[in-house]
Amino acid sequence: MLFNRFWFLTAIVLLFKNVICEDFVPPISWENKEFKKTIELETSFTVENLELTIINIDSQPVTQYFLPIPSDIVPMISMFTAAYISEESFIQCMIVPGVHQLADGTEVSYGVIQFESPVAPGEEIALFAKIHYALNGTPSPEEIGMDDTQSLMLTVNRYPLSPYVSKTATIDIAGAEDFIELTPADNDNESGILLTNQFKYGPFHNVPAFQVSWANISYPVDYPLITVTDLKRDIWISHWAHTAEFQEYYEIINEGAKLKNGFNRVDFMKRVQRTEGKGGNFIGVLGLSMTENSTDAYVTDKVGKVSSVMREENKLLVKPRFPVFGGWAYNFTVGWTNTLEDFLHNSGTEQDSFVIALPVLNGPPDTIYRNVEVSVILPEGADVLDVGSPLPFANATVSREYSYFDLADGHAKLTFYYSNLISEFGTGELVVKYRFNTSSLYQKALYISYYVFGGLMTFFVLANLNLNIK
Ligand SMILES: *[C@@H]1O[C@H](CO)[C@@H](O)[C@H](O)[C@H]1NC(C)=O
Ligand SMILES: *[C@@H]1O[C@H](CO)[C@@H](O)[C@H](O)[C@H]1NC(C)=O
Ligand SMILES: *[C@@H]1O[C@H](CO)[C@@H](O)[C@H](O)[C@H]1NC(C)=O
Ligand SMILES: *[C@@H]1O[C@H](CO)[C@@H](O)[C@H](O)[C@H]1NC(C)=O
Ligand SMILES: *[C@@H]1O[C@H](CO)[C@@H](O)[C@H](O)[C@H]1NC(C)=O
Repeated sequence: MLFNRFWFLTAIVLLFKNVICEDFVPPISWENKEFKKTIELETSFTVENLELTIINIDSQPVTQYFLPIPSDIVPMISMFTAAYISEESFIQCMIVPGVHQLADGTEVSYGVIQFESPVAPGEEIALFAKIHYALNGTPSPEEIGMDDTQSLMLTVNRYPLSPYVSKTATIDIAGAEDFIELTPADNDNESGILLTNQFKYGPFHNVPAFQVSWANISYPVDYPLITVTDLKRDIWISHWAHTAEFQEYYEIINEGAKLKNGFNRVDFMKRVQRTEGKGGNFIGVLGLSMTENSTDAYVTDKVGKVSSVMREENKLLVKPRFPVFGGWAYNFTVGWTNTLEDFLHNSGTEQDSFVIALPVLNGPPDTIYRNVEVSVILPEGADVLDVGSPLPFANATVSREYSYFDLADGHAKLTFYYSNLISEFGTGELVVKYRFNTSSLYQKALYISYYVFGGLMTFFVLANLNLNIK
C-alpha cells in the first residue's frame, strides 16, 4: 500500500497556515457520496483512515475539500496525508487553525485537501486520507488494581464530521477485543454494533452537514502506554574514527491507568507467575531498536550502568530497575556505534562533499514522542551544504559543539526539534549534505599529536589507509 511505503515522500504533510479567519464555514461545494471512516486502535497512538467518494455539486470548479477536526486534538496530529485511490499519488494536505463552533459547542479546525488542478462541477473523486494522532485513549477508570486489565476511553462522533451532506456513511472502530459504549444512544439506529474486534456505526443515509452525536467508548488495552516526554538524540559523525556514534537520553512515562492500592512486590510476582509475564499495563522490558549492525551498546540511568540488558539482533532489551506502572516515569541513556559506511554516501558530483542519511528515531516500538531533539554533529572543519527532514519539524538550528581536543571553531551541530511524533515514523531518514576536506583530518591528528605524543601520527596514517569512504 502506498501509505505504508511512501508516506515519507510527502513533502508537505502538515503545514500550519493562518489563512482562515474565526468562525469559518467552508462553502458547500461537495457531497460525500460515500464517507467511510475507520479509527484504528491497535497501537498506543490513534490512526484515522478515511475512504471518501466525493462529488463536486458546485456550479464552478473547486480545489479544496475541508475536513473538520476537533480543535483540542489538532495539536496532537503527527501526520496528515491524502492520496487518490486510483492513481496511487499523493494530494497536498494542510491544517488550518481557524475555529468554527458547532451547534453543540464543539470547536473544530480544518484539515484541507488541496487538489493540484480544479475539480469540475459534477466530477467524482475517490480518495483516501489518513491522520496519525500522537494520542491514546484515556484510562477509564483512572486507577486499577495490580491484577486488573486496563481499559481506555475514546470519544467519537457516531456520524461523519463533515461540512457536506453524506449520502452513505459508516464509522468503524477497530483494533480491540471488546468495545463498550458508555454514552447511551438517542435511538436504536444510532447505537453501535459490536462485531469481531470491531465496533460499527451506520450505514447512515443522507446525513446532514456537521451532524454530531458524541459517544464515549471504552476498550481493553493490556499493555503500557509508552510516551517519551523528552528525547535528546545525538549522532556524532567521525571520518577519523570511521564511526557514527549514537547517544540518546529518554524521559519515558507510562500514561496508562495508575495503581489503585500502590505497588506490592508479592502481588506483582504472583501476577507475573500466573500470566507467565505476558500482558499488563506496566513496562517490564523495553525493546529498543537500534541501527542495523551496531556495536558497543550500553545503557545507563541515574543509578549507573544498567546491567539487565540483552542484545537480540538489532534490538536491545532493557529491563528498567522497576516495572514502570501507569503514571510512573523512567529516565535512561542508551548509546551504540556504527561504522560510517552504514550511512555515508559520496555525493558524486562535488569533490569533498558527502551525504549522510540517518534514521530520525530508533527506540521502543509503539511509542508517542512529545518533544524530540535530534542533533547531528559533523566532523570538525565540515560545512553544512543542505539538509532534509522526512517529517515536519518545529525548527532547526546550526550551532557549534566543542569536544575535547577540538580546534577553535568546533564541530558543526545541526539540531532538529520535533513534537508529537510516533515511533512508526522513525525510519524516515534525515539527510545532511556537507563539505569536508580530508586535510581537516590531518589537522585534527596534528593537533592531538602535538599535545599528546608523536607516535599517534603514525597510528593515524595507518588508520587513514583504510579510509575508503572518499
Ligand atoms: C431508524 O431507521 C428506520 C429504518 O431505516 C427508520 O424508519 C426510522 O425513522 C429511524 N429512526 C430514527 C429515530 O431515525
Ligand atoms: C465522555 O467522558 C468525559 C470524561 O468522563 C465526559 O466529560 C464527557 O461528558 C463524556 N462525553 C459523553 C458524550 O458522554
Ligand atoms: C526524569 O527526569 C525528569 C526531568 O528531569 C524528572 O522530573 C523525573 O523526576 C525523572 N524521573 C525519574 C524516575 O527519575
Ligand atoms: C549488516 O551486516 C550484514 C553482514 O555483514 C550485511 O549483509 C548487511 O548489508 C549490513 N547492513 C547494513 C545496513 O550495513
Ligand atoms: C525550537 O523548538 C523547540 C521546541 O519547540 C524550542 O524548545 C526551542 O527553543 C526552539 N529553538 C529555537 C531556536 O527557536
